[in-house]
Amino acid sequence: MTRQAPWWLDRTAYQIYPRSFADADGDGVGDIPGIIGRLDHLADLGIGLIWLSPVYASPMADNGYDISNYQDIAPEYGTLEDFDRLVAEADRRDIGIIMDLVVNHSSDQHPWFLAAKQDRASPYHDYYYWRDPAPDGGPPDDRRAYFGGPVWTFVPEVGRYVFTLFSPQQPDLNWQNPAVRNAIYTMMRWWLDRGVRGFRMDVIDLIGKDIDRDLIVEGPYLHGFLQEMHREVLAGRDVVTVGESWNVTRETALLYCGRDRKELDMVFQFQHIVAGWDAKHGKWRPQPLDLVAFKKVWTDWQQALEGDGWNSLFLNNHDLPRSVSRYGDTGKWRDRSAKALATAIHLMRGTPFVFQGEEIGMTNAGFTRITQYRDIELIHMHREIREQGLPEHQFLEGAAVTARDNARTPMQWDASPGAGFTTGDPWIAINPNNATINVAAQRDDPMSVLAHYRHLIALRKQHDVIVRGRFVPWLEDHPQIWAYTREWQNERLSVLCNISSQPAHAEIPAGLAGSRTCLICTAHPREAIPAGPIVLDPWEAVVILGDLD
Ligand code: GLC
Repeated sequence: MTRQAPWWLDRTAYQIYPRSFADADGDGVGDIPGIIGRLDHLADLGIGLIWLSPVYASPMADNGYDISNYQDIAPEYGTLEDFDRLVAEADRRDIGIIMDLVVNHSSDQHPWFLAAKQDRASPYHDYYYWRDPAPDGGPPDDRRAYFGGPVWTFVPEVGRYVFTLFSPQQPDLNWQNPAVRNAIYTMMRWWLDRGVRGFRMDVIDLIGKDIDRDLIVEGPYLHGFLQEMHREVLAGRDVVTVGESWNVTRETALLYCGRDRKELDMVFQFQHIVAGWDAKHGKWRPQPLDLVAFKKVWTDWQQALEGDGWNSLFLNNHDLPRSVSRYGDTGKWRDRSAKALATAIHLMRGTPFVFQGEEIGMTNAGFTRITQYRDIELIHMHREIREQGLPEHQFLEGAAVTARDNARTPMQWDASPGAGFTTGDPWIAINPNNATINVAAQRDDPMSVLAHYRHLIALRKQHDVIVRGRFVPWLEDHPQIWAYTREWQNERLSVLCNISSQPAHAEIPAGLAGSRTCLICTAHPREAIPAGPIVLDPWEAVVILGDLD
């Protein structure tokens, strides 16, 4: 009845954003030799999987999420030989590499698009979605792109509009065309044959769109294409796949990752993230954390995928602000809040994804001027609010809290001016708090955030209850405390975290109580979580492994 557990089940993943990770050649941009030089940091952390954000050839309009050659490496990042060395060196440390598969769109510099836009008769024309201008010469309709501006981009060479859901530099690939799908599958097999262990699939819920009926997200062809991809590429290979979907819900999740669907292993869902966004202005008007609502999203997902499916567990990635800044305390309780947030996430059922710098508690960039930002999304949105005459200061205040560049400042390896990231001029400013927040300062400190992540990652490998246990939420209406238990065979893991900078009072029910082994105590020693009244210190996290009675 139980199938053999997949090799990645108890592993913790780590996302590398290559541009900002480690720069070996001093040009201010991270690169693959830089990553190789830092693999021991990941091995020391206990990481078993790397999600490598795009390293493909690209004009870098969206930092590599705009690919101009799917089978080559961007020269600023290195060569294919460097890449092969990275795979081999990671493999030596028992770390599998998964590639970022960005196939909803290509770059407008991809040879496919260059051919497509020269000639309507070219076989490549149909690799993209084209429509003729409206009778007045304008775009076919007034839909908007995700990064601002119209979704249609006029291409004078052929006198037609092409569909560009993100930016004009990222034309959407026409998945309806079997030649496109076959080219993608061939490319995927080529990477797997080179030794990569799977894919993170960028905005994968958009590939099944029907643009004329405006069915874009989770469109009618999505699951047919994913099943075809599985048959053509993934079946029979021991790989791991995770699909990024900003639109997946608990109701649709199992269509992607249900065990017998033959599509993906897991999805990145974002309902916990958007729970903190403004209904009208989205992330640009961030709302304070409503812990009760936030916990409920996590609980719902834990329960929805309990018997079937598998969760991804994350608070950070290259598109999100730093979790310590967004949900934690960047003042007095910075370290402890980083630990509490990590504890609450890592001990759930699923695969934790750590984003570079999260493991040392890196914080938001602190940018106050538009010229400090580099991100295409932010720059486009800024232009749009200026055109609309909306207040710029309000936009910049929101951006300081939620902009993507908050996650993209260089990795803080040490306290030196280049943060150990570069000896040159970094492509985006280094957060000056590298003077205190850096890997070198934390590596040998058993009380550090880094040591805490190392510990959490090790616990997952040591205790089956973390990988397999049933999830049970507790104190669901408590506005400060995040509490749950995991139950497996005769063990119960009790997790109790104060997600606030004030002491938190609670009445511990018997089902949440635990005694035997204290696995985590971040504020002061505790031997148990006794039933009855308790007071937790600010951002205190307590984890007890006990017996299930
Ligand atoms: C995904 C990526 C993001 C990128 C977008 C378009 O959401 O994570 O960084 O800008 O897709 O490729």
